[in-house]
Amino acid sequence: MPDTGFQQVGLKVDRRLTLLENAIKKHQYKKDALLEILHTAQELYGYLDRSLLTYISKLLRLPPSHVYGVATFYNLFKLKKPGAHVVTVCMGTACYVKGAEEIVSTIEKEFNFKRGETTEDGRLSLFVTRCIGACAMAPNAIVDGETIGKATPEEVLKKIRTILEAAKVEAR
Ligand code: FES
Repeated sequence: MPDTGFQQVGLKVDRRLTLLENAIKKHQYKKDALLEILHTAQELYGYLDRSLLTYISKLLRLPPSHVYGVATFYNLFKLKKPGAHVVTVCMGTACYVKGAEEIVSTIEKEFNFKRGETTEDGRLSLFVTRCIGACAMAPNAIVDGETIGKATPEEVLKKIRTILEAAKVEAR
């Protein structure tokens, strides 16, 4: 394996890093596998921070500015650590037509933040995504990993409130 200097970029050596290295190895350190590798990294870490992007750039021998540019170009990559709870609303065509925008704007209004952001208290993040492959159940929203099909703004809000309330009780 090439000398990647993972300690220099501040990454902890753990299972996620091993899996990421294996994925990069599988792609034979090819530069054109960058998108694929960014996907894998996000799946493993939940988001792509600067240290992770620097690390990937070293492994693929690409300029960090290029890797960062690709990661910021595609809005499916998250560059900041998400909040404690995450809502993702599908904005693919079927979901959009069936009212996904209303779900997103209702959440934005209710919690006073915008899609792609995290509330100031760090408790909730809101993301939108492309088609998640469940168009028959459109519109779809995913709240902390649980998919709500044929979702309504009220239903999604209720779910979010329940989760936030439960987290508050747990923290007491
Ligand atoms: S468009 Fe939302 S699941 Fe396909």
